[in-house]
Amino acid sequence: MKSPKIPYISNVTGTWIKATEATDPSYWARHLRQTVRFAEGLHELLKESERVLLEVGPGQTLSTLARRHPEKTAGHVVLSSLRHVHDQYSDVTFLLNTLGRLWLSSVEVDWSRFYLAERAVRVPLPTYPFERQRYWIEPQKQTGDVSRHRMDLYKKPNIADWFYVPSWKRAAPLQLLKRAEPADQKSRWMVFTDACGIGSQMVDRLEQAGQDVITVMAAEQFAKLDERVYQINPRERDDYDTLLQDLHAGNKIPTTIVHLWSVTPSDGKRSDVEFTEKSQELGFYSLLFLTQAFGKQNVTDSLRIGVISNNVQEVTGEEELSPEKATVLGPCKVISQEYPNISCHSIDLGPEFLGEKLIDQLIAELTDNHPEYFLAYRGSHRWAQTFEAVRLDGQARDTRLREGGVYLITGGLGRIGLTLAEYLAQSVRAKLVLVGRTAFPERHAWKEWLKRHDDEDQRSRQIRKLQALEELGAEVLLLNADVANHEQMQGVISRTVEQFGNLHGVIHGAATLGEKAFGHIQEASETQCEQQFHSKVRGLLVLEKALRGRELDFCLLMSSLAAVLGGLGYVAYSAANLFMDALVHQHNKTNRTQWTSVDWDGWRFWEGTEQKPGIGASVAALAITPKEGTEAFQRLLATAPATQVIVSTGNLQARIDQWIKLESSEEAEQSEKIDAPSLYPRPALQSAYVGPRNEIEQTVIDIWQKLLGVEQVGAYDNFFELGGHSLLGVQVTSRLRNAFHMELSLRALFEAPTAADLAEVIAQGLAEKAEPEKMASMLAELEELSDEEAQQLLAAEMLQSN
Ligand SMILES: NC(=O)c1ccc[n+]([C@@H]2O[C@H](COP(=O)([O-])OP(=O)(O)OC[C@H]3O[C@@H](n4cnc5c(N)ncnc54)[C@H](OP(=O)(O)O)[C@@H]3O)[C@@H](O)[C@H]2O)c1
Repeated sequence: MKSPKIPYISNVTGTWIKATEATDPSYWARHLRQTVRFAEGLHELLKESERVLLEVGPGQTLSTLARRHPEKTAGHVVLSSLRHVHDQYSDVTFLLNTLGRLWLSSVEVDWSRFYLAERAVRVPLPTYPFERQRYWIEPQKQTGDVSRHRMDLYKKPNIADWFYVPSWKRAAPLQLLKRAEPADQKSRWMVFTDACGIGSQMVDRLEQAGQDVITVMAAEQFAKLDERVYQINPRERDDYDTLLQDLHAGNKIPTTIVHLWSVTPSDGKRSDVEFTEKSQELGFYSLLFLTQAFGKQNVTDSLRIGVISNNVQEVTGEEELSPEKATVLGPCKVISQEYPNISCHSIDLGPEFLGEKLIDQLIAELTDNHPEYFLAYRGSHRWAQTFEAVRLDGQARDTRLREGGVYLITGGLGRIGLTLAEYLAQSVRAKLVLVGRTAFPERHAWKEWLKRHDDEDQRSRQIRKLQALEELGAEVLLLNADVANHEQMQGVISRTVEQFGNLHGVIHGAATLGEKAFGHIQEASETQCEQQFHSKVRGLLVLEKALRGRELDFCLLMSSLAAVLGGLGYVAYSAANLFMDALVHQHNKTNRTQWTSVDWDGWRFWEGTEQKPGIGASVAALAITPKEGTEAFQRLLATAPATQVIVSTGNLQARIDQWIKLESSEEAEQSEKIDAPSLYPRPALQSAYVGPRNEIEQTVIDIWQKLLGVEQVGAYDNFFELGGHSLLGVQVTSRLRNAFHMELSLRALFEAPTAADLAEVIAQGLAEKAEPEKMASMLAELEELSDEEAQQLLAAEMLQSN
């Protein structure tokens, strides 16, 4: 091998390649096997203040990462050579644009080669316009915190650092913090009263303090008992609408809501399906329908919802838990993410309530200016939820897997199911029972199937994976069953024992994923939510019953980080995973076999690290690859069982700050307050600057500039390239809804990410909205006319349209 002639950065060392390395074969073996040190490489390159970086090849993964690097400054230019898959430009336009930008950045272009195939002619150009624009450089306000967050949101290179466990820490009593505004300022409250009497005591106390209070009780049907007392049926969406319509009409929309329907008498453990469904109605669905009703009334004033529950969180370890109520925590996380005007908080009470003192504490919590989002009261102590990092260095030799062990995977033909099956086959030549609902071709038909279907066919890929498992020495039993069906799951266990003689471990991975299974709260239907609850709530209850009394080496539930962070469009998914986490806490109190719920970060089964647009889009650069997931799985099984482990590839606290405490939204609000000269200059973008060309574009751009803190946004600038992300997107759509009085979903921003495209969507929406209004006014006009006049008018209209 010869020494390199052109200097380059090594992905192995993250610095300039040395001749001794480039000519050493073992260096190239390390190049194949070791971590890619891309961030360090960028650090080296970005030391030069005017470096131009060009990504050569398909995708824009590397340029995205380079743009997000904390050391990238406005002087660095980052370009891609091919358009993003979702960009609407032609490839040639994109390439030429990049070439132009390279030239603008003083890169020497070999024009003679560029024009080789062309015959150029001279054309006169217009003279240079002097635009009299100021280019004075003002000092920028870039807080340390912003760069800390950016830094923390990198994927940690060592998998051992990806693990966390939930914990609670004693929080200072609120009265010591002296932040709470006693309820002395008159405001409007709405209290959903509970069967334990906390709600009615709160109503009394608030009324004594001169507050305006609306009481809502659960009953069979809607009734307005007096001006301030309503009853509604918790499972009737229409009742919430009627309630809100009535309050809106009477100008009585509340500013604080206390939702106590998840406070129930502690009457023993009842984790059966019927009781669980009842709890969803009073908790999850009640909050969902209530929020939807606020959305329908277009309420945009600030609103606080305090969701009070009891025995949902395991704080002291002594509680008799009610996991069936835990789904209420899903909306508590997602409502504030999807509705920038609503802040939602959860306060969980223990088995004992402290009478009047508790009422004062709750009122103080709900009037506190800096609330904790997930809080618990146990006795008179106040606890705040935290997550502690734990390093999992577990070695493969300490594994709980056994050679030739029998392992059942629900959702076993899914992406993660098959990935873990492969590891089990490879490491211990396992006997695998893979369970799914969809019928799979019989084994004898596999060859024919592969012949008749192309490589991309999902079944073909699964068949090839199954064949590979068997080649690795595994025995595979495929069973058709719905995990939520008790008889079918009993049948699965019996078949397993009949065929393999035992069952040593279970992985519960059955789930309904894919875009149709998710939706923003405003559009979320019961059918959509029930899809999530089917395998993770009902399915888990069935699984627990079917496995009762069976000693296993492990039982891992595939939960999701959405249970901790929520996520746009994830209200039901987050709730279903929260149920799984809570059920394991309760299960482990009374069972010898300790189960573990693993809240996985997103997995990525496609190449590259580009952000996938759409609902549930997450930072794909943080996603787990199948190889990394397998390693994390191996570490989990090489460690003593923990009840709940969170796997977050990036710093979890930084993500909680962003998603639960919504700090990036606060940053956006801060940037709005920054004076114009201190805003960030427009970054180097792929698109040339084009100013707004109509009023709608101007409004869109004004809102973007304020929220992004960018001085000048052009009509063709991409929101996400300007540093926008989903949470800011929520604020953008909410403000646009207010500005244009029309419905606009976050999806619209993903599909039309430039001000020009978004303005077109808005213009179309306004035209559609105007159409029925125009029609209604025409009809009203027609009603006023005599038959003869109406005939004449219609004839004139027809003549005009012909
Ligand atoms: N993928 C990720 O990024 C990610 C991240 C965090 C957590 N997780 C969790 O990891 C698990 C697996 O995810 P995945 O990406 O592998 O999902 P996937 O590819 O969609 O596979 C899920 C499998 O579950 C089966 N299934 C669904 N409902 C079922 C039911 N009622 N009974 C039996 N089988 C059922 C599905 O097959 P049928 O429809 O044929 O039954 C499917 O094969 C899920 O619990 C998910 O929430 C995934």
